[in-house]
Amino acid sequence: AFPQQVRLVEVGPRDGLQNEPTPIDTATKLALIDRLGAAGLTHIEAASFVSPKWVPQMADHREVMQGLTRRNGVTYSALTPNFKGLEAALECGVDEVAVFSAASEAFSQKNINCSVAESLERFAPVLERAREANVRVRGYVSCVLGCPYEGEIAPAKVAEVAKALYEMGCYEVSLGDTIGVGTPLKAKRMLEAVARDVPMAKLAAHFHDTYGQALANLYAVLEEGVAVIDSSVAGLGGCPYAKGASGNVASEEVVYLLDGLGIQSGIDLDALAATGTWITQTIGRPNRSKVGVALASR
Ligand code: HMG
Ligand code: MG
Repeated sequence: AFPQQVRLVEVGPRDGLQNEPTPIDTATKLALIDRLGAAGLTHIEAASFVSPKWVPQMADHREVMQGLTRRNGVTYSALTPNFKGLEAALECGVDEVAVFSAASEAFSQKNINCSVAESLERFAPVLERAREANVRVRGYVSCVLGCPYEGEIAPAKVAEVAKALYEMGCYEVSLGDTIGVGTPLKAKRMLEAVARDVPMAKLAAHFHDTYGQALANLYAVLEEGVAVIDSSVAGLGGCPYAKGASGNVASEEVVYLLDGLGIQSGIDLDALAATGTWITQTIGRPNRSKVGVALASR
């Protein structure tokens, strides 16, 4: 059955901008984050405390995290691949952090320069320190529906990594179709495998739209009861370590779908769409949200 309510995790300022050929200035990022909060997003992934050599687009993580204007009821989170990243994020007053692993060994090596098992070992002290600081930790599993290097990924492998993240203390595990290759039945089967080990209420869907399937895949997992969806305004983004990967499903598309299904999200679609129009014009990108384009041309 469909959930009555869905929480959107807006990843545009992080996933959406981490792959830009030229870094976006901090003021634009801060304005984006503020507009997203004004549109009703309650969870915004604002920055990424990764190595600036690996992802120069996120090098201003401190300025972003310290510069944002906090709104009541909004969680501002950041990626932290290791203890160093966590320490920096905590210094900047982060509300929540996220660690990220993968269901593919090859992707793990390319993305974070270590094996899946090593990544989990690396996360243990991150979770321990975050718990002391009263900061919640989200976990990501990448390549849940396919890998750019390994191809097909077994649902059992996704379940194994998701379970490990959940058991080490991640309050929620986000399942990433990093390269957007999934289709609805595959998404359903993968989710069913994971939900045997991690409660459905603790799972989120993080689908990229490379092959145009993200919304169909979301419909499939909503039917299974997933109630947290990651998305990116205007469909911004891509992953620097997954060539050809395009952005996340557009937040506007998700809200339009949820509105049509009568599922509450608390988001003002017009304000969100106006934000998508504004950010794409500001950074000189096409608006990849069909809903955003349609609403802008009314
Ligand atoms: P490494 O080179 O193995 O790490 O990288 P290291 O510990 O040997 O450190 C190397 C250098 O990086 C050192 O600096 C460190 O100080 C520095 P140097 O001595 O050479 O001057 N360093 C850091 N600097 C700032 N912040 C840090 C940090 N850690 C080390 N936290 C590392 C390992 C994990 C750091 C690197 O591989 C990395 O930063 N990877 C990030 C890759 C990334 O951001 N990918 C995109 C995000 S994941 C994603 O998009 C998928 C997702 O959306 C879900 C989905 O769609 O599937 C989440
Ligand atoms: Mg992603």
